[in-house]
Amino acid sequence: MGVHWYDHLDEEVGEILYDSDVIQRRVRELGAQITRDYAGKIPHLIGILKGASIFHADLVRAIDLGVSFDFMAVGSYGASTRSSGEVRILKDLDESLEGRDVLLVEDILDTGLTLHYLLQNLESRGPRSIRVVALLNKPSRREIEVRADYIGFDIPDKFVIGYGLDFDQRYRNLPTISILKVRRAQ
Ligand code: IMP
Ligand code: MG
Repeated sequence: MGVHWYDHLDEEVGEILYDSDVIQRRVRELGAQITRDYAGKIPHLIGILKGASIFHADLVRAIDLGVSFDFMAVGSYGASTRSSGEVRILKDLDESLEGRDVLLVEDILDTGLTLHYLLQNLESRGPRSIRVVALLNKPSRREIEVRADYIGFDIPDKFVIGYGLDFDQRYRNLPTISILKVRRAQ
């Protein structure tokens, strides 16, 4: 398949957890499940920038229903791999949630602090329903209880990159989900 920019990244990119075929298959399954659960409705898929952008783009096309979507950006890890627990809205939604069936699309559920904050914030905006879809879930890292209605993969406590997930803003366009070799600051 030719030579790619990520072929010689042994220093930072470790084991592949999921290759792109496995990711695409799971995204299609999630899309099919959402299609069944939302039959007759128009789900409003809110992607949390930037990590969920790639997952969101694939997921909306795996849903065989009319959908609408919007994006929101919240404060993230920056260059560190540690969550501060502080969440700030960097870019708010463009549209009202009044009466909508919202599906919050997250890249990864780690401590749960980001999602907990987002759910509280969005629930106060009058949606008819809110559910959460997270591509990845690290159950062992949870600091606060949050519900995720659809989960792509449960993963161990490793810092992962690729398919939208970054380390210091890099590796988002890696086609695989792989483990970062740099030790995480705990
Ligand atoms: P939480 O608030 O701790 O649940 O963190 C959620 C956010 O942290 C995600 O939306 C990601 O941006 C980031 N994050 C958590 N774990 C990882 C990881 O393993 N790789 C890349 N980003 C991560
Ligand atoms: Mg990030």
